[in-house]
Amino acid sequence: MLTAKEIRRKYLAFFARHGHRIVPSGPIIPSNDPTLLFTNAGMVPFKKYFTGEETPPCTRLTSSQKCLRVSGKHNDLENVGRTARHHTFFEMLGNFSFGDYFKREAIRMAWEFVTVELGLPKDRLWITVYKDDEEAETIWREEIGVPAERIIRLGEKDNFWTMGDTGPCGPCSEIHYDQGEDMACGPDCGVGRCDCDRFLEIWNLVFTQFDQQPDGSRLPLARPNIDTGMGLERIAAVCQGKRSNFDCDLFQDIIGYAAELAHVRYSFSAPDTNDVDTALRVIADHARSACFLIAAGVLPSNEGRGYVLRRLVRRALRFATLMGVHEPFLYQVCRKVTELMGDDYPELTEQAEFIARAVREEEQRFSQTLGKGLELLEAELAELAARGETRITGEFCFKLSDTYGFPLDIVTDVSEKRGFQVDAAGFEACMAEQRRRARDNQKKAGLLGAQGGGDLPAALTQGQWNSIYVGDAMLTAQGHILALVDEQGESVSRLPEGGKGYLVCSQTPFYAESGGQCGDTGLISAAGGAQARVLDTLKCHGLPVHLVEVFSGSLAVDDEICLSVDADRRRAVTRNHSATHLLHAALRKVLGAHVKQAGSLVTPQRLRFDFSHLAALTADELAAVEHEVNAAIMADLPVHAREMSRDEAERAGAMALFGEKYGDTVRVVNMGDGEELYSLELCGGSHVERTGAIGPFAVLSESGVAAGTRRIEAVTGWGTLELLREQRESLQGLAARLKTRPDQIGERVQALQDEVKKLRKAVEKAAAPASGDIMQGVEEIGGIKVLAARLENVPVKALRDLMDGVRSRLPSGVACLATVEGDKVGLLLYVSKDLHGRFTAPALIKTVAAPCGGSGGGRPDLAQAGGNNVDGIEAAFAALKQEIDGHPAQ
Ligand code: ALA
Repeated sequence: MLTAKEIRRKYLAFFARHGHRIVPSGPIIPSNDPTLLFTNAGMVPFKKYFTGEETPPCTRLTSSQKCLRVSGKHNDLENVGRTARHHTFFEMLGNFSFGDYFKREAIRMAWEFVTVELGLPKDRLWITVYKDDEEAETIWREEIGVPAERIIRLGEKDNFWTMGDTGPCGPCSEIHYDQGEDMACGPDCGVGRCDCDRFLEIWNLVFTQFDQQPDGSRLPLARPNIDTGMGLERIAAVCQGKRSNFDCDLFQDIIGYAAELAHVRYSFSAPDTNDVDTALRVIADHARSACFLIAAGVLPSNEGRGYVLRRLVRRALRFATLMGVHEPFLYQVCRKVTELMGDDYPELTEQAEFIARAVREEEQRFSQTLGKGLELLEAELAELAARGETRITGEFCFKLSDTYGFPLDIVTDVSEKRGFQVDAAGFEACMAEQRRRARDNQKKAGLLGAQGGGDLPAALTQGQWNSIYVGDAMLTAQGHILALVDEQGESVSRLPEGGKGYLVCSQTPFYAESGGQCGDTGLISAAGGAQARVLDTLKCHGLPVHLVEVFSGSLAVDDEICLSVDADRRRAVTRNHSATHLLHAALRKVLGAHVKQAGSLVTPQRLRFDFSHLAALTADELAAVEHEVNAAIMADLPVHAREMSRDEAERAGAMALFGEKYGDTVRVVNMGDGEELYSLELCGGSHVERTGAIGPFAVLSESGVAAGTRRIEAVTGWGTLELLREQRESLQGLAARLKTRPDQIGERVQALQDEVKKLRKAVEKAAAPASGDIMQGVEEIGGIKVLAARLENVPVKALRDLMDGVRSRLPSGVACLATVEGDKVGLLLYVSKDLHGRFTAPALIKTVAAPCGGSGGGRPDLAQAGGNNVDGIEAAFAALKQEIDGHPAQ
């Protein structure tokens, strides 16, 4: 039997023999492609080769690509678990031709691989072709020899493949495998006629000829290409004689493990006939997706990719509850997935612990949510039923999802079974509205808003200027003014003395705010003597724009000017920026490869770095990170910035900001070289020449900013020395107030604390009544001496001391002391030893504590309780006395 691993190896080797270069799987989150949330097909990493925007390294490529079909055009989520062949995560085997071979070779190679390499019987194979693709049909019939009755022509829906709403596309031809007549769904069963599993599509050959535009039109590509896709899980199942993908080896180890954890059995049932099997399939599928998403830097959230991950985890958990599992368990299944798939996908092994923790935390969050959500949903369903309605509004679903994190699929799952319908479109509309609001808010809080300049003047965005940034090499430069815009946003030819506005220059050494690094400030002086302060530098569609205030003379368009950056400030920014890269690398060393940058801010005063990590850093971890960074600084590593293609940078392993869009040419900054390479990042910012120039690095704080995101703030260089000075001064001030030396503050504080403790005890003792006094209250009930006394504001500790006094004065009897502190009652109850045959303290204290709204326990002679009903004390004493009275001596 061929294992999935063997099939993958055979496939890549076969196409390598046919002139293809084997390329590793691209990322599951497409880099630089805003049109897709996830890589949904093998061709996605090669999109630009298809459209001709980039040149492939070889005109024939082959790969096994990790894919996710859970959003957009290809979304299989709802079907997963209910059919034999849908997955969210899967591996797609593919061979690609970029202007090289076309239909004939693609068809021939596919046929040879399937019938010879995999040895599938020819008489079980059926072919589909696009309705007017005469050429493909002829090749199949005449050159390959497939009988005409087993070639079916189908329309756009089945045999025209598009990646999404836009992008490369074309007619396609598919190979289907007949699983046997006994699987027929009815007399009409047939390829293209029904959706049952008898005929399985195993391979799709796309003749990529068009690039679909946002308006739906299709532009022909310069050269015809080939894009093929064969799902590994599906072909493995077929080769292994299994009728469900979930029964092939890729899934069975995961399913077996999950079944063992849940104490259930997987019974290889037909799709949708056995709830336990369905649940196990969903769990196995979703666990795989969750692992790959988290390894790619996604964490559960209420937006975008994070929301998809949250839905997957929560859907899996929902199915787990149907199997009777109510404890966190998906994280264990994920651990198994990382173990099983780590050989082929090392990112899973590297981040196994992080993945398990992220899933576990989401499980815990969800179990809280689930209870609350189900309660609200039940109430809503009951109300609808009472009104005779069956439609659940989108607003209600949105509220559940937004406020309580309760996902739509669960609402659908629960309610559809009971005959209700969910307004999914209404829900989507609410989601869209929320996204729009979030975008608006973001815009309002934009940087220019904060500068008091409102939105960037339209006059600037429409300009055609070209300004060269020279600030990496020099901090002073000459240029001429290209444009001026006043505070009202109007383009002007002159800014008068006292005027404020925006200035664009032919070249500038001023760094414009971007990539987390703040914009430069400094001075501008014109040949005629005019001078202006640069308050900030901003980036507007790539153009550096200076926010200026003219304080002497006036500036006019075309003036020759000299621009000087505030050098000390820039150097401080530079030190902090370089330290940010070292910090990033150090965090990955100390905490693990799951650490990914989630944002940063670099100013002259300090640096702020946000990164993915689940727990607060321990003091030891933080110290180790600080030590790492300082060691890299003291190693005085060389720092270089180089331009290269994005692919080259990716191959070199440069770290990029997650979710950020980069151009095709990127700037890569390395700290250390060769063996000593410490950090490699995509970055357009300013850096020191050697790390030694950063000076001492000190962490100011570590905190959480969002679920799964931590923040470190730190200082470098003069900032660290300033911090040291401040701390020294504050320590000296403290020492002076404590009348001691700084190195003896600890001992002095300890002595003071001891003294306070002693004094507090003495005060408590003085405040408590003497036991002799309260003994006045002893009465005799049924021949037993009983004391029940209420005291005010005596701490329970002092109450014990008091009770010691009472005991020595009451060798035979029962005593109950109640103290009231605020709205709390503290109770102590004593029963002398001679009475233990009749009463014990733990039994009696229950009687006393109940009216006080509490309970307690203890030893036979002494018990303690607490309560919060001060008004119940009288009743408590009465109950005690009654109890004693009811137990006369025998
Ligand atoms: N891109 C094609 C598919 O995913 C091969 O079916």
